[in-house]
Amino acid sequence: MQDKILDFLKKKQDYISGDWISHHLGISRQALWKHIQELRDLGYDILAVPHLGYRLASSPDRLFASEIKWQLNTKFIGRKIHYFDAVSSTMDIAVELGMKGTPEGTVVLAETQTKGRGRLGRDWFSPKYKGIYLSLILRPKILPNQASILTLFSAVSVCEAIREKTGLDIKIKWPNDLLLHNHKLGGILTELNAEMDEVHFIAIGIGLNVNNDKKALVTGATSLKEYREENINRVELLQEILRKMEINYLLFQEKGSLPVIEKWQDYNVTLGRRTKILSHQKHIEGEAVDIDIDGGLLIRNDHGLIQKVMAGDVVHCR
Ligand code: BTN
Repeated sequence: MQDKILDFLKKKQDYISGDWISHHLGISRQALWKHIQELRDLGYDILAVPHLGYRLASSPDRLFASEIKWQLNTKFIGRKIHYFDAVSSTMDIAVELGMKGTPEGTVVLAETQTKGRGRLGRDWFSPKYKGIYLSLILRPKILPNQASILTLFSAVSVCEAIREKTGLDIKIKWPNDLLLHNHKLGGILTELNAEMDEVHFIAIGIGLNVNNDKKALVTGATSLKEYREENINRVELLQEILRKMEINYLLFQEKGSLPVIEKWQDYNVTLGRRTKILSHQKHIEGEAVDIDIDGGLLIRNDHGLIQKVMAGDVVHCR
C-alpha cells in the first residue's frame, strides 16, 4: 500500500488530495493518514496542507526496494529485491536464496555489512549508508570454467554506470578492481554454485565506496564523493548499475564473451603493463599481453613464454 501511495506522490510532484488517493486505493482517510505517518517514519518528507492534500518534498537516502524498483525498467534484474538495514554479508543471503531457487535477477542489498567479504579472504569495510553493497543472482547456461567472464561483465557494467552518472573516469585492474585515479573505489566478488558441467547459480557481489568521506577511507581506497565533492544519489547510481548489468548480460547471452571483453579492454589498466601475480602460491611476472576469451589474463614472461592466469593478487610494476 505504501508503495502505491509513494507512486502517486512521485508521479504528481505536486499536492494531491487525500480524498483522491483514498478513493483510488479503496482505503479510508484514517488508513491513508496512518500510512503517511509510517512513510514519514522511514524518512520521507511528506507535506500535508488542508484543502490541498499531500506532497512529497523529499525521499530519504536509503536503498529501499521500492525506491530502486521505481522507474527501473529492467526485464528481470531487480524484479525481486531483498533489502536489509544491516546484514552479515549480502553474499550469505544471496547464496541462501540461490539454493532455495530464487529467480535469476534477484538482488540483495544492505546499508551495512558486519562481515562483508572481499576477494582472497579479505574483509570488505562496509560503513552504513555510505556505499553500495549488493549481490545479484544469475543462472547463466555456461560451464563453471566460463564463470570468470561474468566478473568482467560486472566490472564493465559498474564502470559504464558510474561514468554515465558522474562523468568520472573509472578504470579496471584485472580481474575486477575498480580504480579511480589509481585508488581502489570498489571491487567484485563472484561465488559459484555448480557441478562439473553445470552452473546452478552465480552470486555476484559488488562493493562500492560512494559517499565515504576521505578521512574515513582505508589506506589506498577512494570514494566517488572524494572526487565529486558532493554526495552522490546512491539510488540513481544503483539503478543504473542494474540496468547496465542487464544490457551486458543479454549481450553476453546473445553474442558470447567477445563484445564484453572488448568493452573491458577499453576500461582496463592492466594490459601492456609489467605485472606481478600471486596465483595459487605461485609468483608469475611478466607483461600482461591480452585477455583470453574466458576472461583469463595472458602474461608473457621474460623468456617469451605465455601463461594464463585465472585468479590472483595483481601488482602493476610499471
Ligand atoms: C574485492 O575484494 O575487491 C571484492 C569486494 C566485494 C565486496 C562486495 S560488498 C557486497 C558483497 N557482499 C560481500 O560480503 N562482498 C561483496
